[in-house]
Amino acid sequence: MQRYHVALLPGDGIGPEVMGEVERLCAFLRREGLVDLTLECAAVGGASLDATGKPISEETYALAKQADAVFLGAVGGPKWESVPYALRPEAALLGLRKRLDLFSNVRPALCYPALASASSLKPERVSGLDLVIVRELTGGVYFGEPKEIVTLESGVRRAVDSQVYTSVEIERIAKSAFALAEKRGKRVVSVEKRNVMVTGVLWHEVVQRVHANGNGHLELSSMLADNCAMQLVRDPLQFDVILTDNLFGDVLSDLAAMLTGSLGMLPSASLGAADAHGRFAALYEPVHGSAPDIAGMGKANPIASIASLSMALRYSFGAPALADALDRAIGRVLEHGARTADIASGDESADVISTREMGERIEKSLGEVLSS
Ligand code: IPM
Ligand code: MG
Repeated sequence: MQRYHVALLPGDGIGPEVMGEVERLCAFLRREGLVDLTLECAAVGGASLDATGKPISEETYALAKQADAVFLGAVGGPKWESVPYALRPEAALLGLRKRLDLFSNVRPALCYPALASASSLKPERVSGLDLVIVRELTGGVYFGEPKEIVTLESGVRRAVDSQVYTSVEIERIAKSAFALAEKRGKRVVSVEKRNVMVTGVLWHEVVQRVHANGNGHLELSSMLADNCAMQLVRDPLQFDVILTDNLFGDVLSDLAAMLTGSLGMLPSASLGAADAHGRFAALYEPVHGSAPDIAGMGKANPIASIASLSMALRYSFGAPALADALDRAIGRVLEHGARTADIASGDESADVISTREMGERIEKSLGEVLSS
C-alpha cells in the first residue's frame, strides 16, 4: 500500500468539523488497504494565534514543507478581527502559499445534477456545469510591494496595495492552465483588465506567447474580468478553463462556487512546480471560509473538503481511479437526497443531515462504489 505523509491543519470555525470528515475518509482508505495516509495535525490561523501568539509557527511550516500534501480547513473569525494585520489568521494561509511556492490554484466548479435546483441560477443554466478556474496564487496584489498605510505630511493617510506580475510568473501559470485544458475541454479563457491595468497588458501578451509556443491546438480567448463575471452568471456553460490572476481568481471563484449550489461544494488544490523527481508541494482546501456563524453546530457541508481529498488522490497520491470513485460516491449521496442545510434551501423533500452524517454517508457510498 502506498504511504503518504499529510500535514492536517484544521484551523478555525467550521475547519475542524469538516476536516474531521476528511479524517474519517482517510481512515476508511487505510482500513481498506487502498492508500495509507499518515496524518499529522497542527494548529493554524486563530487556533495557532491563541496557542502561540503567531498565526503559524516555524514548526508548522516545516511540517507542511516535509509533507507529501497539506490538508487545510479554514482560517479566521470575528474573535481575531482586531489583531494586528501581520498576525491575522489569514496570514498563515498566505504564508503557506508563498513559502511553499504554491503558485497554481486549481478550483473546479462542478454542478452535480442533483443540485441544479439549489443553484441561484435556473437549473437549465447550470446543469452540466464543469469548469475550472486556474488562479495565480503567489503574486499580484496579494503580495506586491509596496503594501502599506502611510500618513502624509498633511495628516492624510494613504494606503497602497501593489499589483505586480513578472513575465515568469505569468508564463508558469499559463502553462498550468494549458496543461489542464489539454486533459479537459481544450479551451482556455484568459481573464485580466488590460483596458486599465498594465499588468493585464503583460498578462495578455505572455499568455498569447505561451499559446503560440506549443499550445496552438488549444482554443484560447480572452475576456476582461468584469465581463467574465457577467458571463459566468449569464451563461456559465460556455467555460472550460478560466486562467486568471490572484485577485480576480479570488472573486470569480466565489462567484463560480455559488453556481454549483453552495460555497460548501467547491474544493481546491494549490500546487507548486515539480522538482527533478517529479515531486511538488501541494495544499488542498475547501474554497469556503471558516463560517463562524455556524461553527460547532454540525451544520457545515463537508463536501468541499472531501472533494479536496479527491483532488489530492488525483494529483498527489497517484490514485485517479480512487478519486473518480470518491467523486461518484459524493454524487450518489446527493442523488439519494441527502443535504446539509446550505444545499437544502427550497427543497421540501430534502433529507437534511449534519456534517458528520454527510461524512458517514459518503464513506458508506464509497464502499458501495468500490465494490460495485
Ligand atoms: C480564498 C480565500 C483567501 C484568499 C483568504 C482567506 C485570504 O478567500 O482562498 O479564496 O483571499 O485567497
Ligand atoms: Mg476567496
